[in-house]
Amino acid sequence: MKKNVLILGSGAREHALALKILQSDLLGQLFVMPGNPGTMSVALNIPGDIMDIHAVVNTVREFDIDLVVCGPEAPLDAGIMDALSKMEGKYKPILIGPTQAGAQLESSKAFAKTFMQKHGIPTATYKIFQKNQLDEAMEFCSTLVPPIVLKASGLAAGKGVIICEDHMEAEREIIAMLSGKFGSASETLVIEEFMNGIEFSVFVLTNGNQYVLLPEAKDYKRIGEGDTGLNTGGMGAISPVPFASPSLMKSICTEIIEPSIKGLQEDGIPYQGFLFFGLMVVDQQAKVIEYNCRLGDPETEAILPRIQSDLLALFLAMNAHKLDSFALEIDPRTAATVVLASGGYPGHFPKGKTIKFPDQMAAESYIFHAGTRTEDYILKSNGGRVLAITSLHESPTEALNLSLHLADQVQFEGKYFRRDIGLDVYPDKRRSDELNI
Ligand code: AMP
Ligand code: GLY
Repeated sequence: MKKNVLILGSGAREHALALKILQSDLLGQLFVMPGNPGTMSVALNIPGDIMDIHAVVNTVREFDIDLVVCGPEAPLDAGIMDALSKMEGKYKPILIGPTQAGAQLESSKAFAKTFMQKHGIPTATYKIFQKNQLDEAMEFCSTLVPPIVLKASGLAAGKGVIICEDHMEAEREIIAMLSGKFGSASETLVIEEFMNGIEFSVFVLTNGNQYVLLPEAKDYKRIGEGDTGLNTGGMGAISPVPFASPSLMKSICTEIIEPSIKGLQEDGIPYQGFLFFGLMVVDQQAKVIEYNCRLGDPETEAILPRIQSDLLALFLAMNAHKLDSFALEIDPRTAATVVLASGGYPGHFPKGKTIKFPDQMAAESYIFHAGTRTEDYILKSNGGRVLAITSLHESPTEALNLSLHLADQVQFEGKYFRRDIGLDVYPDKRRSDELNI
């Protein structure tokens, strides 16, 4: 029987999910709440606030939804899946995303670190401090060799991590964070050792027992080329990651992924959905920087176009506990994703700039909408990250070139993007020299 699917979210990740699910023969109708002009061209957008649990439950009932995929973390942390899992009878949807208990892996860094320590999962050495433990925090800080990593335990929109170059800066920041620099998110503070290595992201879909490994990706969080400047939500991504060798991936499966899933079981936390491992590879060994309880953005825009299997069939296999017999087919080509941002992002930026797309696009390229809206049928920018462009090619350099070519052709005032996505791991000597990186 065909399935009606509801995707929650409004970014490029959700547009990429919508396009992928649209390819499924198993799909009935596709809905996105609230969606964006990109999802509107492939699904029915349902206006509403996805943090409003009643609104989501009512949507599931009204549109006879069989399966719900939650894109962002905030509704998961707010318990959207807890509410949906309590729906009865014919309205009980299949859920892609954990309940609040599982979402703590992302929403509380203190919880995640304690979980990793308990289950022997490699991560940076750390200690956790509460608001009233300033002296203890200072003392622990003095035992660490800088750089020193300070993390607000709670969700802080990706801004709650501060890497301090010396003890003085660390002490100043510890005081600021424990006094609520990030509101209640930093009233619990994680202080940890700095890991000097190379980062990448690994994703699985799990039902809390079995899992399927999805393509890995590397994202580019800084605003400036050569990884300089302020942190952003992500300015681009590539997949696959050349240094993710079969032996490294095998050790990640046995030392990180499997103990994490087993740990959730042992702790009595059911988990169904995507689990995202932010990893640091130091001396060929991966350690966990963070967990996320969802897919990444912009990593999703790079990994989903590489998945050739039917994603909806994969979701159904997960629900039927048949993941171990699901052979995921992956396009061996490289996907290079370039994010087009509004000038000024991640600081202040204007909205409402008219966007013009090129008349023609290569078949192996996609433009995903992130922060856009329509006004009198005209497409306008409506966020810091406006569009994400992905291209696939056998040659990583050509994949990037295709995306850059399109990025040059798309027009809106103040458009900004990085030209060096993937060049650190797939070096292109000529371009690296030009960019001086
Ligand atoms: P998180 O929000 O935990 O992913 O941290 C944000 C970013 O800070 C990561 O993507 C890393 O680049 C960096 N980071 C976090 N923890 C560490 C660490 N212990 N050592 C080095 N870099 C880190
Ligand atoms: N790109 C990182 C994230 O989605 O958290």
